[in-house]
Amino acid sequence: METRVGDITSPHMQWWLDAKFGMFIHWGAYSELARGEWVMNRERWPVAEYEAVACAWNPERYDPREWVRMAQDAGMRYLVCTTKHHDGFCLFGSEHNDYNSVATIGRDLMAELAEACHEADMPLGFYYSLKDWHHPDYGAAHRGDDAGQARFIEYTQGLVRELCSNYGKVAILWYDGGGAHDGEGWHADEMNAMVRELQPGIIINDRSRVPEDHDTPEQHIRASSPDRAWETCMTMNGSWGWHAGDSQWKSTGELIATLARVNSLGGNLLLNVGPMGDGALPAESIQRLREIGDWMDLHGESIYGTRRSPFEWGCFGFTTVKGSAAYLQITKPVGQELIVGMVKNRVLSATLLATGEALDFEQREDRLFIRGLPAMAYHNQLSTVVKLQLEGEPEVYPRWL
Ligand code: GLC
Repeated sequence: METRVGDITSPHMQWWLDAKFGMFIHWGAYSELARGEWVMNRERWPVAEYEAVACAWNPERYDPREWVRMAQDAGMRYLVCTTKHHDGFCLFGSEHNDYNSVATIGRDLMAELAEACHEADMPLGFYYSLKDWHHPDYGAAHRGDDAGQARFIEYTQGLVRELCSNYGKVAILWYDGGGAHDGEGWHADEMNAMVRELQPGIIINDRSRVPEDHDTPEQHIRASSPDRAWETCMTMNGSWGWHAGDSQWKSTGELIATLARVNSLGGNLLLNVGPMGDGALPAESIQRLREIGDWMDLHGESIYGTRRSPFEWGCFGFTTVKGSAAYLQITKPVGQELIVGMVKNRVLSATLLATGEALDFEQREDRLFIRGLPAMAYHNQLSTVVKLQLEGEPEVYPRWL
């Protein structure tokens, strides 16, 4: 497939732009400690002490088929999983270290995930952290140790090569933790050229300190320029890796509204789950995934395949667009009449997306009045979607200053 790096119109990007919604998975030996993925660093664990935890880690309830099924049932169309986080422990077999799950428990955890994804036609993304709190050569350049730095770059490229060679098709390479060096310091151009040669059509994020295919705002929503692909990654509570003490869960309604808002601005949402040490997902995540899935069954049409919307936010929420359809994502209660002040096109029909029920509407001057919304438009705290069939591509009135 033709790849024009960083070009949103490139053929290799189109499936991803259509997918709109993916699952992020933060999982590793740190999950066992249940205090998030930064635990080793923040609590300053001596390497040997943390190593003992990592080497004893044996996730007995790990069932990647179940993860993939849950992601798909939630309407997620790709998945990105941590293969190695900043702690340096590899969830895959490597010839370049013996600090990996094959060496410790004889299981290539990422091979099992890859198999589950390939079986289910789920595009597989590998998260790879360039940081490494375990490797003695990490950060060598900052100590003036050029030989150590050269070894670390070779090590990094060796692991990335393995990830791109041993697991069949890899759809996405999601770098993280590159803060120690700039792109040149990481030899990122060289490394990513290797990645693209091994995995034609792969999508690479912007965190090897060179722009590559897409931007990755974290825990917030920020649209890139219209010619640039972007993806917000976000947690369901406040933590990426499993944190037993974090009970600040976002509501399903909030998560769905976030998805709509991101999509209306042309982005994807990569929503995180942090499985526990044994491999099982926390009940709170499972519940949210199920509820999102139920909503997506009825409203997926207003999410998948949408592109950046010319409509700005309204008092009711956000608008997603696809072809000549506009979807009003009513994320806030509005009562039974909805007044929309943006739509310039002639409106051919207005329907409740979930049921197909036709709604009464009137266009007068700059305004579109939609009447007879169900009394509980804000049903179960989840957004209601009104589909507008427009005459022609969506057009908006010039904005008021
Ligand atoms: C932050 C966290 C890191 C996490 C990443 C996901 O950078 O520090 O642990 O993996 O976000 O985007």
